Amino acid sequence: MGSAESAGGRLGAVLAAPRSGIVALGPHGPWLTTTPAQARQVLTDVDHFDFPSDVSRSGDLSASRGETRSGHLTFAPLTPAQVARGVATFAELWPEAIAAHDRARPGEAYDAMVLLRRPVARSTCDALLPGASPAQREAVAEGVLAWIDALAPVISAARAPRRWSRTRRGERDARLRLEDTLAPIEDLPGTPQQAATMLAAGIQVPIAAGSWLLAWLGREPSPDVEALHAVWESLRVTPPTWITARLTTTEVDLAGQHLSAGAVVLVSPLLLGRLPELVPGEPDGLADFDPGRWGDETRRPGAWLPFGAGPHSCPGRTLGLAVLVELAEWALAHGVRLAADVEIDQTRGLAPLPCRFTTEAAGGGAR
Ligand code: HEM
Repeated sequence: MGSAESAGGRLGAVLAAPRSGIVALGPHGPWLTTTPAQARQVLTDVDHFDFPSDVSRSGDLSASRGETRSGHLTFAPLTPAQVARGVATFAELWPEAIAAHDRARPGEAYDAMVLLRRPVARSTCDALLPGASPAQREAVAEGVLAWIDALAPVISAARAPRRWSRTRRGERDARLRLEDTLAPIEDLPGTPQQAATMLAAGIQVPIAAGSWLLAWLGREPSPDVEALHAVWESLRVTPPTWITARLTTTEVDLAGQHLSAGAVVLVSPLLLGRLPELVPGEPDGLADFDPGRWGDETRRPGAWLPFGAGPHSCPGRTLGLAVLVELAEWALAHGVRLAADVEIDQTRGLAPLPCRFTTEAAGGGAR
C-alpha cells in the first residue's frame, strides 16, 4: 500500500511542508496551518475564517439551522436514537452485502468502496430520515449515491466545469432528482436541499473511511487489535477528509503571519495526525498503522481533528465512529486480508483505489 508520505500531488506537498508557523504552499497562498492551536483557531473563529459554501461549485448548498458569521447554517449533532438506528441498519446490511457478493461472484475478492455503498447509504438515511417509509429511504439512498457519483467529476476537475457542460448538467439533474425524492418526506433535517447536503456528507466520507479501515486491517492482520483503536488509527493515518479550507473575512494575523482578506487557509487532519505531541509512539513511526499505540491512554485520540472542530465540525461523528467500530469488529472476526495493492486516490478527499479484500473465516465468503 503506497504511504501518504510517498504520494505526490497536494497530499505530498502538505506532508512535506515545514512543520512550524503558517506555511505558504504557493507564491500567494493557500496558507497551511501546521500546529493544533492554529488549526483550532481557524476552525473555531468564524468571525475571521469563513466556511466556503459551495460543495458542488454551483451554488450555496451549505445548509443551516444555526448561525455562523457567513450565514451558513450549522447542523445539529445526531441524537443517540438516530445513531442507534443507523448502526442497526449497517449491522444488518453489511453481512447482506457480503452474502450477495458471494452469491453473484463466488470466490472473487470483495471491493470495499463498492460493497460499502448501500449499507452506509441506508444507515445514514435511516438515521436522518425518521419520517420516511422504507421505500422512500431506499429511493433516497440510491439518489444520494447517484448525486455523489455525479459530483465526483465536478469536484475532481482541475478547473470548475462550465455551467452548461455535460458534467455540470449531470450533477444538477442528479441533485434535483434527489431533492424531488426528499420533498414529500416529513421531518427532514432542514429543506430538501439541506437534507441532500447532509446525506451526501454522511455517506461519501464514511464509505471512504470504512474502506481505509478494511485496507489497513487487511494489510496488517493481527488477532489482538481492539476495534476502537483500529478505527482511530485508520482515521489518523488516512483521514478521508484529509484537508479542509476556510477563507479569511478580513485582514488577519495568524501566528505572526499577516493574511489579506479572502486568503485561503488550510487545516489538514492528515498533517496534524503526524505530530508527535498528539500521537503516542516513536516520532519516526508515525506514518505506520499501529492501533496498539492507543493503548497508551495519556494521549486523546481525535486531537488531529478527523471530524473537524468548531461550528462546522461533523454532526455525524458518533454515527461514523459507531459504524466503523461495527465494521472493524466484523473484519477482525472474519480475518480480512488485503487482496491487491492499494493506491491513494486524492481526487476527492482520500480514498483507497481499489480496496480489494478476502476473508479467512466462513461467513465472509471469498477465500
Ligand atoms: C467516519 C465518518 C466521518 C468522518 C471521518 C467525517 C468527517 C467530517 C469532517 C472532517 C467534517 C468537517 C469538514 C470541514 O470542517 O470542512 C465533517 C462535516 C460534516 N459531516 Fe462528517 N464525517 C463522518 C461521518 C458523517 C456522518 C455519518 C454524517 C451524517 C449522518 C456526517 C455529516 C456531516 C455534515 C453534514 C458535515 C458538514 C457540517 C457543516 O458544514 O456544518 N458525517 N465530517
